[in-house]
Amino acid sequence: MSQQNRLVIFDTTMRDGEQSPGASMTKEEKVRIGKALEKMRVDVMEAGFAAASPGDFAAIEAVASAVRESTVCSLARAVDRDIEQAAAALKNAERARIHTFIATSPIHMQYKLRMEPNAVIEQAVRAVKKARGLVEDVEFSCEDAGRSEIDFLCRIIEAAIDAGASTINIPDTVGYAIPEEFGNTIRTLIERIPNADKAIFSVHCHNDLGLAVANSLAAVTNGARQVECTINGLGERAGNASLEEVVMATRTRQDLFNIETGIDTTHIVPTSRLVSSITGFPVQPNKAIVGANAFAHESGIHQDGVLKHRETYEIMKAEDVGWGANRMVMGKHSGRAAFRSRLQELGVTFETDAALNDAFARFKDLADKKHEIFDEDLQALVTESRSASLPDTYSLVSLESHSATGETPVSEIVISKEGTEHRSKAEGSGPVDAALRAIEEVAKSGANLLLYSVNAITEGTDSQGEVTVRLEKAGRIVNGSGADTDIVVASAKAYIHALNLLVSTNDRTHPQNDGV
Ligand code: KIV
Ligand code: ZN
Repeated sequence: MSQQNRLVIFDTTMRDGEQSPGASMTKEEKVRIGKALEKMRVDVMEAGFAAASPGDFAAIEAVASAVRESTVCSLARAVDRDIEQAAAALKNAERARIHTFIATSPIHMQYKLRMEPNAVIEQAVRAVKKARGLVEDVEFSCEDAGRSEIDFLCRIIEAAIDAGASTINIPDTVGYAIPEEFGNTIRTLIERIPNADKAIFSVHCHNDLGLAVANSLAAVTNGARQVECTINGLGERAGNASLEEVVMATRTRQDLFNIETGIDTTHIVPTSRLVSSITGFPVQPNKAIVGANAFAHESGIHQDGVLKHRETYEIMKAEDVGWGANRMVMGKHSGRAAFRSRLQELGVTFETDAALNDAFARFKDLADKKHEIFDEDLQALVTESRSASLPDTYSLVSLESHSATGETPVSEIVISKEGTEHRSKAEGSGPVDAALRAIEEVAKSGANLLLYSVNAITEGTDSQGEVTVRLEKAGRIVNGSGADTDIVVASAKAYIHALNLLVSTNDRTHPQNDGV
């Protein structure tokens, strides 16, 4: 396939996706996501912003060591320290990319950077050269390109390519662009910049007006050959272009786009579930491709049509994107070795025997309650076992709840707070409400509950319920998650997980601070 017909998929779930409030991921979680993305055959994965914090640095380092097939990338502002940190975090990568950026719109240059346009070009050139001195593969982004002047974009991009950038990214940082206009911008840049043929043009669209995918596709039609996107469209504010939509749109309408990605689409749904379970961001049921209803035909006419001839109402096959791929992988009689090996296939390794034993004990408990254990169950179980192994302030010891028609629900809970057990009992409008009130009576966190949601992890009434609890305190937002076949217990676990995240310290620099 010629480079002209190949669309590079650059996944930024672990960087821009992580910028969604509360979606932060641990090092181990990033390795699991990285392995899933590698299996899906993404070309490039942006594992984070190395200079943001020691935790981000370590996570990029771990992903770079674990992933062999895809390029691993770190974001870096156009400053020496960021670029050096990015290169150091990527030192073990089979293929490493540094993605450096600076703002190019008049509003950002004047108010955020407080720099003259010529100085911005000089800084961009210095940054690209510095990065090229450390790695072969350098991407340069013009932040807020969607509101930048075309003449200025031409000047800075030409200079960045001359300095050694082989990918030029045009972000619509604030989600302001409209497809036709954005497509024209990409075409004009490629036509006008004299050395445009020496770089791949990329786009990175935000979804503030719900147009991120449409803008990305308009850019592809006009010559962009890399799209930056995220699983489930996760990302800053309204999110980024969703990977699954971009990939399936170009594949389903191959007649129009005449382009191919290298993605193994059968990994889309499992990866979507993994990201949702790790971040605690549920997928809306009517979300294209990965929502629970995306392939469900409700109306009788549709059902009848699909039964007679599938293509009457289906433009894609559910199994092509990984629906129904969940296999019964384990049961009550599966042993430790089989458990460890299946998790290894899912990208999960255990650093200590104690960690493996803890996860295996949870698996046995679950297998006693649930006949068939699917990959999704294992993923949820590992997420939970990992969060339980954090140096917790709070942990759940026991929970008893009572609800009956005509009676006020009541929950009694024992939780351990810094090693000391506390018992508390509360009433509520339902057993979940009562359990969370009982926990709060001990924790007295005063946090605001922003979101409570329950999802069935697999099919059947014996499915585990996966609960997300989003709490806010003093401007800090965290997502706690918990899974159990009993949703009152799952809710208590999720609330306790969120409380533990609130008390943990995780100070990070935001990449879009000026940095100069
Ligand atoms: O939205 C944006 O502009 C970004 C850049 C850092 C690429 O995320
Ligand atoms: Zn972005």
